[in-house]
This record gives sequence, C-alpha cells and structure tokens, in this order.
Amino acid sequence: MREYIKEADFISLGENTGKNCPVFRKVFSTDKNKEVRKAVFQVTALGIYVAKINGKRVGDAVLTPGWTEYEKRLQYFTYDVTDYISGENTVEIGLGHGWYASRIGSVGVYKGAYADFPSLAAAIAVQYTDGTETVIKTDTGWEAAKSGVLFSGIYDGERTDARIIPEYGEKAVVTEYGKEKLVPAEGEYIRETERIYPKEIITTPKGETVIDFGQNMTGYVEFTVTGHAGTKVTIEHAEVLDKHGNFYTENYRSAEARAEYIMKEGRQTYKPLYTFYGFRYIRLSGWPEKAEKENFTAIVVHSDMKRTGWFECGNPKVNKLFENVIWGQRSNFLDVPTDCPQRDERLGWTGDAEVFCRTACLNYDTEKFFVKWLHDLALAQKENGQIPRVVPDVFRTNDRSEFGSAAWGDAATVCPYEVYLAFGNRNILTEMYPTMKKWVDYITGKSEGNLWKNSPHFGDWLGLDAPAGSYKGSTGEDLIATAYYFLSCGILVKTGELLGYDMAGYRKLAGDIKEAFVKEYVREGYRLSSDTQTAYVLAIHFGLVDEKERFAERLVQLIEEAGDTLCTGFVGTPYLLDALTETGHADKAYTLLLQEKFPSWLYSVNRGATTIWEHWDGVNEQGDMWSSDMNSFNHYAYGSVAQWMYRTVAGIRSDEKSPAYKHFYISPIPDAKLGFVRCRLDTRNGTVTSGWTVESDGTVRYEFEVPEGATATVKISGVEETLGKGRYTRYGRI
Ligand code: BGC
Repeated sequence: MREYIKEADFISLGENTGKNCPVFRKVFSTDKNKEVRKAVFQVTALGIYVAKINGKRVGDAVLTPGWTEYEKRLQYFTYDVTDYISGENTVEIGLGHGWYASRIGSVGVYKGAYADFPSLAAAIAVQYTDGTETVIKTDTGWEAAKSGVLFSGIYDGERTDARIIPEYGEKAVVTEYGKEKLVPAEGEYIRETERIYPKEIITTPKGETVIDFGQNMTGYVEFTVTGHAGTKVTIEHAEVLDKHGNFYTENYRSAEARAEYIMKEGRQTYKPLYTFYGFRYIRLSGWPEKAEKENFTAIVVHSDMKRTGWFECGNPKVNKLFENVIWGQRSNFLDVPTDCPQRDERLGWTGDAEVFCRTACLNYDTEKFFVKWLHDLALAQKENGQIPRVVPDVFRTNDRSEFGSAAWGDAATVCPYEVYLAFGNRNILTEMYPTMKKWVDYITGKSEGNLWKNSPHFGDWLGLDAPAGSYKGSTGEDLIATAYYFLSCGILVKTGELLGYDMAGYRKLAGDIKEAFVKEYVREGYRLSSDTQTAYVLAIHFGLVDEKERFAERLVQLIEEAGDTLCTGFVGTPYLLDALTETGHADKAYTLLLQEKFPSWLYSVNRGATTIWEHWDGVNEQGDMWSSDMNSFNHYAYGSVAQWMYRTVAGIRSDEKSPAYKHFYISPIPDAKLGFVRCRLDTRNGTVTSGWTVESDGTVRYEFEVPEGATATVKISGVEETLGKGRYTRYGRI
C-alpha cells in the first residue's frame, strides 16, 4: 500500500493551541466525470485524533494512534473510506493532546510530555476506475479552528463547552516530524468493548451524589442530559469509597480525572474524545435534573484482544479472583501494558508487564499487543543496553531513568519468550534477540565476579516484609538482581540456540552466574543470605540451587511462621505457588491460594475487590487505606497467580519444544477443597480443555480435550500417555 501520508505535512495550531483541542477541515470534491473505485484514508497524530468524513466518524478505534516511542516512530492508521465519500466532501479531524502533549509521568515535571501542542497528518486518496487518483493531503491549505473541547489531558480529564461551534478561520501551521518515522499501525486497536449500566445511585454520608457501576474498569462515562445552555455538569472518578461510604480520590494523587461539560440547550449526549479514566464510581455535580440510572453508561475501553482463557472451580471466591485478574488485564492493556489506569502514572512499567506476561498470554491473545510494545521497548533501549523503567520511555530526559532495574529490564527477555511460547511467533525472537543480548551484556558490564551488585533496583517491590518507610521488601536487591541475571541469560541461551547461534559462551556464563550465586548467597543448612519467602522462591524456581526440596523446607517454614500467609512483593509473588508445587508442596500452594485472612489474594475479594489491588493491604483490616500515595486498586501484578490456575490446578502447560500448544502437557494437581475445576484455553492449535471433579468417595474424575492436529502428553495418577485429538475421561484418587 502506498504511504500517501508520508507526502502530507504535519499541521497544528502551534503555540496558539493553548489548552484547546483544535479541529482541522478540508472540503474537497471528487471528479464528477469519473467513477470512484476506492477511497483510502491515512491519518495519524502526535496526540490523539478523531476523524470524520461527511460527519461520520471514521473507524471504530478510539484513542488513536496510541502511544509509541514517539521520538523513534509513530503509527498511522489506514481506513477504507469508499463508502464515506460522495461528490462534495468534508473531512474534519479533531486533535487532542493525548500522551504526546499532556502531562505524563508521576514527577509532574512535564507541561506536555513530549511537546506543548499536538499535531496531525492525513491523506485521502480517491482512486478512480480509470486508474487515476486524486490525493488530498494535510498542508497549510487546511482550515483550522478552536473547538468546544477546551482542555484534554490523559490524567486530568476533559472540559467541553457544547455551546461552541468551531468557527473556521485560523491558520494551520506546519510542524516538523520526520516522515521516515511513520509506520503502519501494528498494535491491537483500542475499542469500546462493553457498556455497563449503573448498579446504584447513592447519596453518600457527605450528601454527595455518587453512581456505582459495580465494577472497577477503564474507559469513560457517557451521559444524556436535558437542560439549559450554560449549565455545568461535573463528573469525578473514583475506584473505592472510604470506610464511611464517602467518595475517595486521594489515591489518584495529582490526576484530576475530571470531566466538565457545559451544556447547550435541550437534550444532549456526551462522552469524552481524547482521554480515559480508571473508575468504578463517579461523583456528580451540577446535574440539572434528578439523576436517573438510565442517563448514565460506563463504556469499557481497552486494546481489543481476543479472549482465550477461562477458569472456573467450585470455590466462588477463587472464581471472583480470576474474574478480577481478567478485569485487571482489560483495564491495563490499553495500547501499552500499564501499571494502573487511574492515578498520575498509567505508564508502561516494564516490571509489571514482565511479571504478568505469562498470565496475560493465557487470558487473551496478546500477540499483536506485545509485539507492538516490544518493538518500542527495543527502540527505547539505551546505547549501553539498559532497558528503561517505562516503555515508551517518557522519563527520557529525567535522571530517574538512569538505571535499569532487575526484574523490570528483564521484560526484554521474558516477554518475547512468553509470546513465542504462547503463540509460536518465532519472528519476535529473531527481532528481539539483539535487544536481549544487549540487556544481558549490560548486566555483565555491571557485574563483579558474575554477581550483579551495587546497582539501584526496585527490589521485591511492595513486599510486605519491607522495612518501615520503604516500598521495597527486605529480600536483598543484589540477590534478586543476580537471580534475574541468571534467568535472562538462560532465556538468551534458549533463544539463541533456537535461532541457530552458537551460545556456548552464554551457556557457560549462566553456569558461572549460578555458581557465583550459590557461593555468595547460600548459607549453611540450606538457608539463603536473605531469609525471605521471595529469596527462596527465586532460588528454587529459577533453578539457582540444587537440592531445591531442602530449600523449600525453609520456604514452607517461613510461610507457616507467618500463619500460612505470604509476604512477597512484585518479584516473589508470580512464582510463589510454582516454587511450592515443584518441590512437592502443592498443598501449601493451595493453602495460600485459598487463604482468606490478611494478607492473601482472597482478602481483597472478601473486601469487595473487583480488580487486583496494588497492595495486599490496599484497604487494611480496620477499613483504612494503607496510604494515599501509592494505592491503586487496579494493578495487575499480583494477578499473575492466574497462570498457576491454568498450569497447575487445571494442569495445561505449553511445551517449549513445540510452541503454541502444538504439543502440550496435561497434568492437573487436584485439591478436594476446590471441588471441581473447568478450564478452557483457545490456542493457535485449537481449543484445549481440562477439568476435574472430586467425588464424595475421594475419586477424582478428570476430563480433558485435545484439539485436532495437536498432541498432549498426559500424566494423571502416575500414568503417562500421549494422546491425539479427542475427549477423554480418566480416574484417579486424591
Ligand atoms: C508503579 C509500579 C512500578 C513501580 C516501580 C510504581 O509507581 O505503579 O507498578 O513497577 O513504580 O517502582
């Protein structure tokens, strides 16, 4: 396809934009003497665009063109608009500040994250049946106007004056942007995927009108209102109510997350154009009539990935937890994998994506989503191999980006490899191999005696064993760093060998790292220098210690000393249940999964969570917020437990030698406490199901399904068999 857009100018209102979200217009006619065969529209923005042709919105994607490593590349979208055009045509494009020109980053230092004002480029090619074409491109000949969208920012929301009708007459100015950086859109389109109606309209103890949608989510509210011109309606967003039942927004920190709407006369419907919010509740002010449920709809917005994984068992609380994991992913897979969707962050934190990636690839077909983000990650990698903490690296000019943390930077190895395993995408390994290698070499450059020491890291972020006043759990940062060095080096070796490279050097390096780890961190009596749950989890699960069962004894002891509860943070939590299972303690893993007292996964469920909390104690046992500073109720990291449900409870595991479930394993570990399990995974090689039921006499009935064209190695009650297409039933005992 010809890249017409590369011939177009980027246009804007320049410094004159201010906070307004301008509109640009071009009126054009097609050649009356010719028959139109096809019309193609290409468009992009450094910011967010909403395009209309003859009054009809083009395409169903929203928040386009998304967020990329803008300094290196920008996606453009191509639409077939043959049905949109006739003889006389008007194309009108609205332009919001978006991730490019509103403030982004928790430090709040940016006026506009990348620039102070947005710009856009577009081209329409009308192709005639006689082989000729007319191309209309953005240039200074386009009319421009300020619009009724007076302000829009990712964190702060949108202010609209519906009375304002754009008065064209301003001059579009040309803004420089290297056309070679334009690439066809490759991510999953962001769409409005569901509409949720209010559960309840509440009058809080403070007397405020609050609407509860019953589900924490990402998106925005659409409302219909009738009243007089000039009336101002305000909507604020919140995830939770405080313990008194009042609207609580402190955890949004500086993000205003507010929609202000000044009405025109009569009945009208509004939703924002260039922003999104993370919320379950809205607070309403200035509403001119009695607020009725039917006036409001919450619209769920995220990257529109295909759902692939389902899990259900006999424990409704575990089912709710699983559902919360799904909502965590829906809320935070919005073009880039974000930490949270509500406060003044919403950033592509690499560590969060790294820990959640395996679960993400089971729940949804995330291939396109991750491939796009990984391309940005590769571009964001620093010369010296460091991977920034966030991708896109919006902190680029800030010194805070001057380190690559263990478990965060390792997204460079972990994510491509998981995408390969889940979807069989070998190409992403080829593309990412240089990035992986540079990352491992970067660590080597920082290491002493094969240990990654004395660098700054995020540690076991939010681990509950954190010393007072710290966000970092007490597991030694150097220990974590070397463990991840080993993990990434191992993935690099597997990847290189798959691609046919000689990996002898890195293979030896992996062995050396392990030896150094043992020498440095293993103490007598199968103890580790950091006597923490997370330290044992990493040493066991990453294969850093032999005789792992002996180390697991201490892990179990630590859990028991804590009253059968966990205290792991971002780094230890994803693999905690795996480390227990692979050392013969599946019963303890189940105890943790089913634990309801604080701290546990089900603690949040019992407290009414509808998404995954950032903190185990987001709301503590007294009903207070643990803090107002770092307290998101929609962070997916701890949702990484879902991979254990698919892979151990239901027992469906991929085979590294045969990715995309061409060959896979079925080996569930049942537990009578769950009663039954049903799990389904729609793989690239067909639908796999696995489930079991514990009968009253202790018999376990296993039922599973192998799709056509795939084979499974099944291990149940010690009997191993390899099976092709079919539905099967087997029996065993608990
Ligand atoms: C984010 C995290 C992130 C962390 C790293 C936080 O502010 O919300 O999820 O990984 O910073 O320190």
